[in-house]
Amino acid sequence: MLIFVMSSALAAGLPTPPGEMPVTPYTQADANAGAVPFHGDAMWRAFHGAEGVARVVDTTIDRSVADKRISDIFKGQDIVRLRRLLREQFCYILNGGCAYSGRTMAEAHKNMGIQTADFSALVEHLQAAMRAEHVDFRAQNRLLAKLAPMKPDVQKRFKAARPL
Ligand code: HEM
Repeated sequence: MLIFVMSSALAAGLPTPPGEMPVTPYTQADANAGAVPFHGDAMWRAFHGAEGVARVVDTTIDRSVADKRISDIFKGQDIVRLRRLLREQFCYILNGGCAYSGRTMAEAHKNMGIQTADFSALVEHLQAAMRAEHVDFRAQNRLLAKLAPMKPDVQKRFKAARPL
């Protein structure tokens, strides 16, 4: 019975937040964030809490969307959802008391064709955003070290079922 209730909730999916596009239902889990959170409140304070994280995420996204090298990747994508979930993911990793409700990094970036240069460009914008927020340099590097191992998932391509 419990299994039935759980699977029908999953199949029905959760309501789409205002301003966002619906996505194929998936199982929500903090593990989808792709990193284990920091302990204590030092990192959360270094980023100036929820408002600081919101500024860092917004600046990173705004700069990325405007960057001719990678802007095409963001065309037609749900930037409202991206903004909400990147804030949530950073809040979760920085131990700011959030749960992460988004997809895994592999699922979210599936077949976008992201390459090393695109990943580096986004990191460049994140670094500029953290500098603008006056995040302590050591804290900047500690967050980047949590994100770096996600690179293979962000760049992952799923093989076609049969050769094209
Ligand atoms: C470690 C690096 C990265 C992290 C932590 C990250 C994080 C995220 C998160 C949390 C989402 C939303 C997941 C969801 O919809 O459930 C997302 C989606 C997205 N990401 Fe990333 N990302 C990274 C790298 C990149 C790069 C390098 C690009 C492109 C240059 C990129 C482009 C996008 C786009 C366009 C979406 C929206 C997808 C959609 O609308 O379905 N991401 N990312």
